[in-house]
Amino acid sequence: MSTARLDEVRTAFLADLEEAGSDAAAVETVRIRYAGKKSGLLNELTAHLRELPNEEKRDYGRGLNELKKEIEGSLAEAKKNAGTVIKATAGKITVKGHSPTVTVGGQGRIDVTLPGTPVAQGAQHPVHIVRRRIEEIFLRMGYDVEAGPEVEDDWHNFEALNIPPDHPARDDQDTFYLPQGFLLRTHTSPVQARVMESRKPPIRIVVPGRVYRRDSDLRHSPMFHQLEGLLVDEGITVGHLKATLETFLHALFSDNVEVRLRPGYFPFTEPSAEVDISCIFCDQKGCGVCSGSGWIEILGSGMVDPRVFEAVGVDSDRYTGFAFGLGLDRIAMLVYGIPDLRQLFAGDQRLTRQFA
Ligand code: PHE
Repeated sequence: MSTARLDEVRTAFLADLEEAGSDAAAVETVRIRYAGKKSGLLNELTAHLRELPNEEKRDYGRGLNELKKEIEGSLAEAKKNAGTVIKATAGKITVKGHSPTVTVGGQGRIDVTLPGTPVAQGAQHPVHIVRRRIEEIFLRMGYDVEAGPEVEDDWHNFEALNIPPDHPARDDQDTFYLPQGFLLRTHTSPVQARVMESRKPPIRIVVPGRVYRRDSDLRHSPMFHQLEGLLVDEGITVGHLKATLETFLHALFSDNVEVRLRPGYFPFTEPSAEVDISCIFCDQKGCGVCSGSGWIEILGSGMVDPRVFEAVGVDSDRYTGFAFGLGLDRIAMLVYGIPDLRQLFAGDQRLTRQFA
């Protein structure tokens, strides 16, 4: 016994206090165990003093006093830091960090109208919001949401989509090439090929995802987001394509927008169409967003080229289909009036906070 016992108690106390952390109730339990008036360990240690032979009393007594001070000091400190936010006694509320004490009527009532501590709230990124909205529109029309790899092979990104090695269409898609014939996909269209290879029609999918091109300015970023659509079944015509796109664009923008199909070219669709909507900013009077034309180009589309069907093993005598692809970032910029594409990827919370 004697001073070794004091050290034991000190070690145990420090461990218990550490465990209690900033939990006010736990700190109080520790206080009672060690410094409690009736049965605290300190009392026991003090009682022990009387039983000691005289020559040991001095050292033990001094050690005990030190320990007491230490325990009391640490407890006071721990209490100050513990999370007792609101303490209610009869008719009085003490709120930590607030002075003076707030007094309300009644016994131990808590004033729920006191302002709380603000909690920082996250926000969804505008591209994410637009993606979810578009997915939901197509989910309602019976489509599934699919995904594919961002690291692609030449076959799915180009060859299967009727873009052979020396095809000029490879030039407008400045590709990031990776070792061993791999590349970063330049569009979401390779997922068309992957899904058709792996499953039989009818197919109805939308595919959102990141795509990559060696390009960077106000309107281009080396990484951006597309959303692909593909529908394959018996008897699908351009009429289905047009009606689907109109339904989609009306749901996304407004029933009042006009949808226009212009002849276009993509190696994997025939015929192909560029799709415009009437300018939602100026009602076609002509403004900066539509460059005075009254129309805004919104997506590329067309009927799946039979050569694509053949490449991926779909019977082109039996099935027809349509596909479309759009830039999610472009639509987010349009909807939210964001002038520079790169702002979307700068990670600046002053942008995203506006969408909380
Ligand atoms: N993949 C094309 C692009 O990136 C868009 C597109 C998809 C066009 C599907 C037609 C059909 O520009």
